[in-house]
Amino acid sequence: MRLSALFVEVLSLATSLASAAAIDKRQAATKVYTFSSPKSAEGIAARSNGQLLVSFFEKAEVWSLDPVTQKAAKIASFTDATCAAGITEIAPDVFAVVAGQGIWKIDLTSGTAKTTLIKKVPESEMWNGLTTLNNDTILIGDALKGAIFRMNVNTGDYSIAIQDPTLVKSSSGIPMGIDGLRYFNGTVYFTNISKNTLLKVPVDQTGKATGAITTIWSTTQADDLAIGPDGSAYVAAGSKIQKVTADGKISTVPGSVSSSTSCTLGRTDTDKNTLYVASSNGQISSIKV
Ligand SMILES: *[C@@H]1O[C@H](CO)[C@@H](O)[C@H](O)[C@H]1NC(C)=O
Ligand SMILES: *[C@@H]1O[C@H](CO)[C@@H](O)[C@H](O)[C@H]1NC(C)=O
Ligand SMILES: *[C@@H]1O[C@H](CO)[C@@H](O)[C@H](O)[C@H]1NC(C)=O
Repeated sequence: MRLSALFVEVLSLATSLASAAAIDKRQAATKVYTFSSPKSAEGIAARSNGQLLVSFFEKAEVWSLDPVTQKAAKIASFTDATCAAGITEIAPDVFAVVAGQGIWKIDLTSGTAKTTLIKKVPESEMWNGLTTLNNDTILIGDALKGAIFRMNVNTGDYSIAIQDPTLVKSSSGIPMGIDGLRYFNGTVYFTNISKNTLLKVPVDQTGKATGAITTIWSTTQADDLAIGPDGSAYVAAGSKIQKVTADGKISTVPGSVSSSTSCTLGRTDTDKNTLYVASSNGQISSIKV
């Protein structure tokens, strides 16, 4: 999230300066592309054909980026919205995207993007994170309401799935609670950006919590995340990517990035071990994981 990342950067300037020497020793990630207008990349997803989809915080658009030819093109823009955020695949080559108070569908199965509104939800306050729960249901994080919504992507029916103090924004500091969220194998991982926390909660196939919310960490900035086929979570954590394995081991992925907001794993045989990272400064970079 661009604004929040900025706040955190300012707030943690002293810490950053102190650790700058250590960060410099890490190898930089490989640059894939730099967006300039729009610039603040907010969400990223990979298509099965190797193309990347990127959404933008300061403009409600989604662009397609070929990481091999390094060419990018706008494929969708959303009316009545100023901001686009989470992206998730809901069926083969069909993606859902958060744009303002709406969830939109981008269908790429015909070769050209067909964009349609699934549903606008006026009572949403600040939708950001998005994940696929099953083939008809998505979960959406509301950073201001401190809630996770569920929505049927075929009917647009929606309701609140989880509302909890861990999702709520801070009374001071960054005015946002839940930011990124991803579902994998019975668990929703989510971040509370105002608290620098990564948390998880077991859920059923309706998105209802079936157990307690547990904190994985509470001291590292955390924006959006990606989960690999082995259940490892990769979390965009400002200047670095933090990895948490399915059994809870935390490590920093070698390779420094800047102002990271989200990440996704490649989908082809040649890039399935490549993590693509989107940053609010327009950079898309790649790191081997
Ligand atoms: C959706 O998932 C259900 C339950 O797993 C399955 O029975 C159904 O075939 C799936 N539908 C599609 C279109 O993939
Ligand atoms: C998430 O942030 C809110 C507001 O700061 C806080 O009350 C809550 O305890 C946080 N949750 C966790 C688990 O850190
Ligand atoms: C999913 O979780 C179950 C236990 O809850 C575990 O046995 C299984 O290996 C997990 N699957 C994957 C793909 O991680």
